[in-house]
Amino acid sequence: MKYLIANWKMNDVDVSNWLEDFLSLSLMNKSLEIKVCANLYDVKDIVDASLPENTIFKEPFWMAQDVSKNKEGAYTGQISSKLLNKIDAGCLIGHSELREESDTNEIVHLKGIRLKEEKVSPVLLCVGESLNILEANKREDFIREQLDSYFKDGLFPDIIAYEPLWAIGTGVSADKRNIEDAMSIISKFLEENDHKNLPILYGGSVSSKNIEEILSITSVSGCLVGNSSLDGKEFARIAKKF
Ligand code: PGA
Repeated sequence: MKYLIANWKMNDVDVSNWLEDFLSLSLMNKSLEIKVCANLYDVKDIVDASLPENTIFKEPFWMAQDVSKNKEGAYTGQISSKLLNKIDAGCLIGHSELREESDTNEIVHLKGIRLKEEKVSPVLLCVGESLNILEANKREDFIREQLDSYFKDGLFPDIIAYEPLWAIGTGVSADKRNIEDAMSIISKFLEENDHKNLPILYGGSVSSKNIEEILSITSVSGCLVGNSSLDGKEFARIAKKF
């Protein structure tokens, strides 16, 4: 199975227009799962959106971009794993944009525990290094630490995305060699921890122009796409290359 996951971040996307654009390029790939990490304030449109009966739309189609580390209560503005369970959404956690703001490895682990308690699935864990770390030759230790702290006490995600910070939103994706090296660091960790079958995605400036090269890397099970997912047609063009 391959995965293509959109990350709309805090952009204002018209859900019904996007679906119309996306569906205008008919997609029939039965071994591709497509999901969208939407802005949860669009939850009404999301719940109301009627998805066609098509194997490409696996439930849950919608995912959240984050979850609170707290169970429930007086946490203004936060979204609990219980709510995600209620609307049957999966969840992305550990995105670098959140790690840069406040999410330490420990917080990401705690968020993973909250998701597990409410059986939220799929859980997509993002890992990836900054340019400084890459240039200082510390990538392997850095990524292993991110993974190690998440996999503590038997916790594990359903999908992992490798997203180097230096390729996110820059328009320039990591090159093939770089992605292959990162994939093997993650695969080695997964093998040592008895999870060698977890899919590993690549994310960072994926577009319809570079998707073929990225998919030619056999260890890549799919992509997490930011900017290029905001346009339903461009996202469909990427999907068609799978
Ligand atoms: P990008 O974002 O495709 O715009 O680089 C990817 C991401 O942050 O998930």
